[in-house]
Amino acid sequence: MEHGPGGYGLPGRHESFWMETTAETAYPPLPGNLETDVVVVGGGITGITTAVLLKQAGYTVALIEGDRICRGVTGHTTAKVTSLHRLIYAELIDRFGSRQAQQYAEANQAAIETVASFVREYDIPCSFEAKPAYTYAESAESRDSVAAEADAARSLGLPATFVEDVPLPGRTYGAVRFADQAQFHPLKYLLHLASLIPGDGSQIFEKTRAIEVQDGGGRCTVRTERGTVTARAGVLATHYPFYDSPGFYYARMDPSRSYVLGLRLDEPFPDGMFINAEGPTHSWRSQPAGDGELVIVSGMEHRSGETVDTREHYRSLEAYARSVYPVRSVDYRWSAQDYITNDGVPYIGPLAESHENIYIATGFRKWGMTNGTAAATILTDMIRGRASPWAEVYAPDRFKPAASARRFLVHNIGVAEKYIGGMISRPAGDLADVPPGEGKVLMIEGQKAGVFRDREGRVHAVNPTCTHMGCVAAWNSAEETWDCPCHGSRYDADGKVIHGPAVKDLAPRGG
Ligand SMILES: Cc1cc2nc3c(=O)[nH]c(=O)nc-3n(C[C@H](O)[C@H](O)[C@H](O)COP(=O)(O)OP(=O)(O)OC[C@H]3O[C@@H](n4cnc5c(N)ncnc54)[C@H](O)[C@@H]3O)c2cc1C
Ligand code: FES
Repeated sequence: MEHGPGGYGLPGRHESFWMETTAETAYPPLPGNLETDVVVVGGGITGITTAVLLKQAGYTVALIEGDRICRGVTGHTTAKVTSLHRLIYAELIDRFGSRQAQQYAEANQAAIETVASFVREYDIPCSFEAKPAYTYAESAESRDSVAAEADAARSLGLPATFVEDVPLPGRTYGAVRFADQAQFHPLKYLLHLASLIPGDGSQIFEKTRAIEVQDGGGRCTVRTERGTVTARAGVLATHYPFYDSPGFYYARMDPSRSYVLGLRLDEPFPDGMFINAEGPTHSWRSQPAGDGELVIVSGMEHRSGETVDTREHYRSLEAYARSVYPVRSVDYRWSAQDYITNDGVPYIGPLAESHENIYIATGFRKWGMTNGTAAATILTDMIRGRASPWAEVYAPDRFKPAASARRFLVHNIGVAEKYIGGMISRPAGDLADVPPGEGKVLMIEGQKAGVFRDREGRVHAVNPTCTHMGCVAAWNSAEETWDCPCHGSRYDADGKVIHGPAVKDLAPRGG
């Protein structure tokens, strides 16, 4: 049993297996103002793959990363590389029609081959392995949906079949199975790709947070804490676009958090990657690790910033895993969030009509290994002035009244309630109510204060009003962070931004 943030009584080391088994990078910060062909902001799978493809196409690129590359969501993924996105194709055909559903299918299926061809071409040692992927029914009620998904996916040319037998313990009711999907160690893959970027006029700059973007006259300028980068085009691959106006992305996506455990079992894990059709999510894969295999189980999702005690999610995930397999040990635990758009399809393309030289890729619905890779291909095509066969389904300016209207309304009412509730509610209590290892929002001398008392008894107090758009951040006990329920900004216990869209830290409060 290991402690770490929130860790008393929680299983495993509080560390992503991918990050623990790769070295942290040390690219320099931006030294001052710079001109380049394309500026890419964000060093996750989307930004790194885009930068590499652009460099291969003959552009000079500056990749700007606020922290160190590969330590955002990509460092905390489960890294299944598959076009089987739980249940999506029947729904896509219904909402978007077969032609656009096919674009989504082809973009994600082609992304598997893009990853495979990088691995082959550069001989990247990242335990890339072909595996079948399954979405299985855990209840009799889901059997029809799973069978319908197999039909829908097959009609789009995907390698789908309905199977009765699922090689997992426990009762299942059939599954949709995709052949020839893949899994890998995402950071071993991406750190190698990143090493291809510097040179011939291209560069990576770390510890350089972008604050603002402007464009006009065929140029785009990204202002950072350390200088500006001016380019012909800018790609915001920051997971959530830190610069929104006038895209209104804040009203078009929800942040969803999931929990991950790395386990050792007393028996070999079956050949495949698995996810259930129902909620809460139960997702499984294995990963070669040392002289054995680590089994990665994830799920128990909820809207970020919206739960009472996040430690419960790790506990329920552990209890669930132990109900399925004899677990010898829980070695790792980590969690992360991804964004889900109103209609379930990512936004990839120009930020807005009025910003033709600024591109975004966001809202991957926890399927960013392929969607992020597809985004890199699509955005590279766009910047080269080439038509992308998959652009239409991902177009950020789409609006499907039937698909989006209800969710758009429900989302905005929900966010408005949080926003207003956060601004007018009067939290009660005082410092004595905050035990060591806990955090709370209190009213202190008439002002809202986010108070965390660490295990040594020191009090860390911040103004919990999110610097993005003013919602009140909630304490995340499992990670010891302040998480904003509105659009998913996250801050450490002292208020430092660790996840956008916020770019400004929370103000300190005396306390
Ligand atoms: C628990 C979990 C499991 C998942 N499992 C899978 C899976 O099995 N298969 C799959 O396909 N997908 C999966 N996903 C989804 C996938 O991991 C993500 O969609 C993907 O990693 C997102 O990549 P990204 O490059 O867009 O973002 P990130 O990896 O977060 O990269 C964005 C980068 O931008 C930087 N940044 C942010 N703001 C700024 C700024 N202002 N200036 C400079 N830099 C900035 C950040 O520091 C970060 O490094 C999972 C997601 C979660 C949460
Ligand atoms: S993330 Fe938008 S208000 Fe906090």
